[in-house]
Amino acid sequence: MGDKVFYVTTPIYYPSDKLHIGHALTTTMADTLARYKRMRGYDVFFLTGSDEHGQKIQRKAREVGLEPLEYVDRIVATFRELWRRLDISYNDFIRTTEERHKKVVQDLFRRIYEKGDIYKAEYEGWYCTPCETFWTERQLQDGKCPDCGRPVELLREESYFFRMSKYADRLLKYIEEHPEFIQPPSRRNEMINFIKGGLEDLCVSRTTFDWGIPVPIDPKHVIYVWFDALTNYISALGFGTENDELFHKYWPAAVHLVGKDIVRFHTVIWPTILMAAGIELPRQVFGHGWLLVDGGKMSKSKGNVVDPMVLIDRYGSDAIRYFLLREMPYGADGYYSEEALVNRLNSDLANDYGNLLSRTVSMIEKFCGGLIPAPAGEEPLDRELKELAARLPDEVDEALERFEFARALTAIWQLINRANKYIEETAPWALARDPEKRPRLQTVLYNLAEALRQATVMCSPFMPGLPARVWEQLGMQDAFHAQTWDSLKEWGGVPAGSRVKRGAPLFPRVEWKAEEEGEIAVRKEERIPGPGQEAPPDGATAEPEISLEEFSRLRLRVAQVVKAERVPQTDKLLKLEVDLGGETRTVVAGIARYYQPQDLIGKKVVLVANLKPAKLRGIWSQGMVLAAVEGENLSLITPERDIPPGAQVR
Ligand code: ME8
Ligand code: MG
Repeated sequence: MGDKVFYVTTPIYYPSDKLHIGHALTTTMADTLARYKRMRGYDVFFLTGSDEHGQKIQRKAREVGLEPLEYVDRIVATFRELWRRLDISYNDFIRTTEERHKKVVQDLFRRIYEKGDIYKAEYEGWYCTPCETFWTERQLQDGKCPDCGRPVELLREESYFFRMSKYADRLLKYIEEHPEFIQPPSRRNEMINFIKGGLEDLCVSRTTFDWGIPVPIDPKHVIYVWFDALTNYISALGFGTENDELFHKYWPAAVHLVGKDIVRFHTVIWPTILMAAGIELPRQVFGHGWLLVDGGKMSKSKGNVVDPMVLIDRYGSDAIRYFLLREMPYGADGYYSEEALVNRLNSDLANDYGNLLSRTVSMIEKFCGGLIPAPAGEEPLDRELKELAARLPDEVDEALERFEFARALTAIWQLINRANKYIEETAPWALARDPEKRPRLQTVLYNLAEALRQATVMCSPFMPGLPARVWEQLGMQDAFHAQTWDSLKEWGGVPAGSRVKRGAPLFPRVEWKAEEEGEIAVRKEERIPGPGQEAPPDGATAEPEISLEEFSRLRLRVAQVVKAERVPQTDKLLKLEVDLGGETRTVVAGIARYYQPQDLIGKKVVLVANLKPAKLRGIWSQGMVLAAVEGENLSLITPERDIPPGAQVR
């Protein structure tokens, strides 16, 4: 493998609070690159971690009566749990409170000090505690922190300074000679202008608090958090220690992925520290935009954060990852809303992807006894599909090289959409009626399975949970070679003769009620996909049928309403208490527009008794009441004769 190495990092996040989906965005991008490069045969090192020192964390811990380390231990555990749930495949997690890190930071500090690029001086400046940053008078905006707009304090202290100003010209020259170093280009221009405005020396120690790494030559000082934090990228590799194999193997980093808020730290402070220490610079720094909610940046202090854990519980890791990567425009800010997420999930994942798979599998079951047929011949439509597939891997590759995640996904979706259209164009259900068209039918069904295979291989770095579920349905879980990126070179990786196996919908559709936003996003039974406009003739339908066994898994029972009331602040929901013949259940039903609560008392209805409970408006709903619906008309289903509550409906 030799020099095929790829070192990718995320910022190390502050464990001052739990992470939100802004953090999940950066980490998901990094994970996607790491997985992609591994598939391409690179030896990948993917680093994430936590940035645990500083005054802010010390204060936070004190507020809740904990020692700083106890406090961060608890929060760091939630970081790891989030990354586990989000399928983040990091190779190492560095904590700045670890000995291995502290030692490297102190060595680096000493090295630069001994070289004469760190010196001691009296310092007076305006300090923003939340940002851990000193500002000069002229940098302030209306007397406040120019980054976050919060008040600053005037601090005077004896400090160590890093001669950053000395490296300004060299840095500028480097950035100009390496146009790829800062990405996207808009950030590069910002940084060039910033450096041209002049660099001052950087204060790299503090005496006003002690939750940090002591300055090795003067332990009443602690090292400035950004000097400490940035060094994580090499401390995790054992830089300067007796065990520095990883450093020699992986440094310089291929890319530091960061949000635009910290591009300056990574493209001005970090490179100049490295220059002073005589260490190579990272190859690239990519600064993505912010994920905004209601027009503003998500931030803990604004109280508008979105907890990724809740979203993963609701929609699954793949859907969240897909949304983040697909929705974030390149080089700009993006918007988060749960409604936008649900729209993506329903249209791109449930409809386009999920339906392609379920239609393909059910047609192979219906027309070919469940075995993927061998193709027989090629027609222009087939060629078009194959040619499209053949050029996509390069398109995905190019997009990922430039961190254009949304473009990469759009490329893959060209194939998925083309394959869906191919179903309409070839109408397999019609071919199935004519025995002479058997070879054509086989070719079409094979090509559909193969298009799915190729799309799924390409999706694997983005949605790591997806492939196994697709391989199982296509009966190719053991066809390892056909799951690799290399296999995309040729059309025909799906082993003919594999037995398909219909499974649960890949991405169940979600019903979203905008007016009840934030509360109700109920997973609904997947609406079974059909070929849409064109009605399949003669019962030769592309709709997946279910077996008696599958039907019998539904527990439908007669239930008698004993109590009914409106759910406050909605105009759709009623809260019902129903008797199931001894057992009482609470059910929330969207029928308030059609029934008055008092008219329901005593009524017998049909309840899906084994539906997974769901929380609606804070109420656990333990089942679903069946109703017939047509347009604006709704009628509850009731037993036609007298029968006691609890009776089974079959
Ligand atoms: O800055 N949109 O940590 P941090 C997009 N410890 N990305 C966002 C985001 C949003 N709304 N909010 C956060 C620190 N991020 C330092 C880093 S690195 C040596 C030290 C992401 O917890 C984005 O990557 O404040 C941003 O740069 C990072 O989280 C800031 O995380
Ligand atoms: Mg921050």
